[in-house]
Amino acid sequence: KIFTDAKEGSAYAASQIAALIREKQSKNEKCVLGLATGSTPKSLYAELVRMHKEEGLSFKNVITFNLDEYYPIEPDAIQSYHRFMKQQLFDKIDIDQSNCHIPDGTTAKENIKQHCSAYEQKIADAGGVDLQVLGIGVNGHIGFNEPGSSVYTKTRLTTLTNSTRLANSYEFANISEVPRLAITMGIGTILKAKKIILMAWGPTKAPVIQQSVEGDDTEHVPASLLQNHDDVTFVIDEMAAAEL
Ligand code: GLP
Repeated sequence: KIFTDAKEGSAYAASQIAALIREKQSKNEKCVLGLATGSTPKSLYAELVRMHKEEGLSFKNVITFNLDEYYPIEPDAIQSYHRFMKQQLFDKIDIDQSNCHIPDGTTAKENIKQHCSAYEQKIADAGGVDLQVLGIGVNGHIGFNEPGSSVYTKTRLTTLTNSTRLANSYEFANISEVPRLAITMGIGTILKAKKIILMAWGPTKAPVIQQSVEGDDTEHVPASLLQNHDDVTFVIDEMAAAEL
């Protein structure tokens, strides 16, 4: 779906999320959301906060699982995805924050495997992700699944490419400060979500959107592996759609 700008696209994505939350509320069920960070979903979270404040949208039945977190990182570091989520969304809505899950960037190295399998288990125990929100890196990464990540990958410790570290270095004092590692849900984890919305704004994403949608499904472009899922919507603006 192509929108004139990020604001319109975000309003559409927010309306899909709100409809799902309300549908689940009407059945007295929990709504399990998979959430993303980065600059892309900021306008989505702003719209959800607006719907909470102005339209009474409640998040009391919502459980969240974030895609990824830098490693190592303290939760209150300026660049941590824990801090990002609290600032952009969790502290501004009525969600029970004990239902908000993010991989823990302070996990001791020897406990990472166990932490990752426990994260997968928590998603399964919650009944699986109903709706997964994704952004996309200019190299096609989703979460922190860099090119080469297989369709079977699960939550794990992964190495960031230099291009991703460079793209994200604006959040840090300089590139040497950007962590070299991250904990991320796998492509296999993401593909288990019942519904997926990937968002992308601006001209820098146009080439990778074209490759993901119209190219072969290949591990070289992780987002192209979403072609193997039967309920994925790319919500993009006109500039990100320029090469389709
Ligand atoms: C980051 C995140 C991804 C995000 C992507 C795009 O590294 N780990 O989940 O989708 O890169 O970031 P942005 O939205 O800032 O372009």
